[in-house]
Amino acid sequence: MNSVPKIVLALLGQGFAFALLAALVWLFSYVVAPPYPWWALVWVQGGLAAMLSGYLGLPGWWRWIQLFFPVALYWALQLDLHPAWSLSAFVLLWLVFANASKERVPLYLTNPTTRQALKALTEGRAALSFLDLGCGLGGNVAFMARLPEVGRSVGVETAPLPYLVSLIQTRLRGGEVLAQNLWKTSLGEYDLVYAFLSPEPMPRLWRKVTEEMRPGSVFVSNSFAVPGVEPTEVWELGDTRQTKLFIYRR
Ligand SMILES: C[S@@+](CC[C@H](N)C(=O)[O-])C[C@H]1O[C@@H](n2cnc3c(N)ncnc32)[C@H](O)[C@@H]1O
Repeated sequence: MNSVPKIVLALLGQGFAFALLAALVWLFSYVVAPPYPWWALVWVQGGLAAMLSGYLGLPGWWRWIQLFFPVALYWALQLDLHPAWSLSAFVLLWLVFANASKERVPLYLTNPTTRQALKALTEGRAALSFLDLGCGLGGNVAFMARLPEVGRSVGVETAPLPYLVSLIQTRLRGGEVLAQNLWKTSLGEYDLVYAFLSPEPMPRLWRKVTEEMRPGSVFVSNSFAVPGVEPTEVWELGDTRQTKLFIYRR
């Protein structure tokens, strides 16, 4: 089940729940004659899907999504909105969060405190090359490009809207951004590689780091440690979100 995307498992869960609901309605019809209120059926559907989510191997928080998804869908239908609104909302979400379903990495941004820590990592260096793997809106790339120690600052990003914003931002403030998948990006030419992704890609990313990054270079992961690998240093930044930087010196 581990190889099946969570979204597929969630849909399967809703499908099984629907089959169970149909059976329950059929049995219940011997006790109380139909019709039954839609809102009640929708809550039972959500409840059943939530109960099944554990059996399907979905993480605990998916239970809440499974519970509220049919209810939210029902309420949205009650609003009787033109379908173009839902389609537009879906397209907009996809343009921003294209990497959330496949890569399991949504968009959230590095804060100014963390950028200062990245700056500290460049001290004493010259013509350093920096790479942000999944650069979001390009803020880190533009920030690093302006440091005198940094010779080249690059970001790669595949979500369409963040890529567009980071392209504009780097054109205006410095640095370069490539519409390129991080898995197809060679790490060998960079001194400092930064990632702020999610727990999901870390084991695979570490294999890439060890295969491609050259001796003396540094890999930094914001918040997500590489499982089973001791970092060279851990910086606790003491900001409001208690950021931890896991630093791996090659
Ligand atoms: C948590 S955000 C971090 C953004 C930025 N690095 C920052 O720290 O502010 C992760 C970004 O990685 C991007 N991303 C995820 N998987 C990617 C992939 N395979 N190739 C390129 N970008 C990816 C996402 O679209 C998202 O913008």
